[in-house]
Amino acid sequence: IEVNVRIVKDYPEISETAAQHVYDCIQQKEKITIGLATGDTPLGLYRELLRLHHEHPLNVSKLTTFNLDEYVGEAAESSCSYRYYMNQQLFLPLGIPLAQTHVPDGMAADIEAECEQYEAQMKAVGGIDLQVLGVGRNGHIGFNEPGTSFDSHTHKVELSSSTREANAKHFGSLERVPQHAITMGIASILHAKEILLLASGERKAQAMFQLLEGEVTNEWPVTVLRRHANVTVLMDEEAASLL
Ligand code: GLP
Repeated sequence: IEVNVRIVKDYPEISETAAQHVYDCIQQKEKITIGLATGDTPLGLYRELLRLHHEHPLNVSKLTTFNLDEYVGEAAESSCSYRYYMNQQLFLPLGIPLAQTHVPDGMAADIEAECEQYEAQMKAVGGIDLQVLGVGRNGHIGFNEPGTSFDSHTHKVELSSSTREANAKHFGSLERVPQHAITMGIASILHAKEILLLASGERKAQAMFQLLEGEVTNEWPVTVLRRHANVTVLMDEEAASLL
């Protein structure tokens, strides 16, 4: 299987290209379920998608979304939660009814049950048509850290110290970064019909090298994408600098 690789100049071009693709997918389908990611990388995609939507409004009634992950212990109202991020960056400005959007509930009393229910909800709508992905500098996808089984479904994870450090800026200090998160598993991610991975900057160059030129190994979770039949990797020149 070949991964489709598209190298563009810089971050703004990643954002425009990705947004146009997501926009077109929504336009073309009668009903669509999109998997969404957080982190810094998709911010430009969401901004550009909103711009396209304001020019020619999308029919958001046909759209259902599932996010990859959420911190355990961060409430929807907490500005550090991914639910808050998604509401602010995309859902509220897009005008999508929040009932059509899904983010794992990091405040659930029973996290195990929440994971199972999340997986069941994805199945119930027929799975994800298009999954947008970012990648951690250590190759994690969602919050599936190195070593995670390729057979994993939505589960609770302990965050690695490098991931907690990378995200500390959003929390003010490292100590405030949660120790745990809920994430779609690697099998859940691979279940999507199409995957669009975005990578920007030199920080992601090693992960891009492993993905395209290394072995498929769970030490670099992103390499599992080589086993998927419909993956596009959209990266900028810096992320491609080791290829
Ligand atoms: C975070 C998120 C991932 C994201 C990754 C990269 O830990 N859980 O879903 O893809 O890190 O983040 P960024 O885009 O900020 O580099």
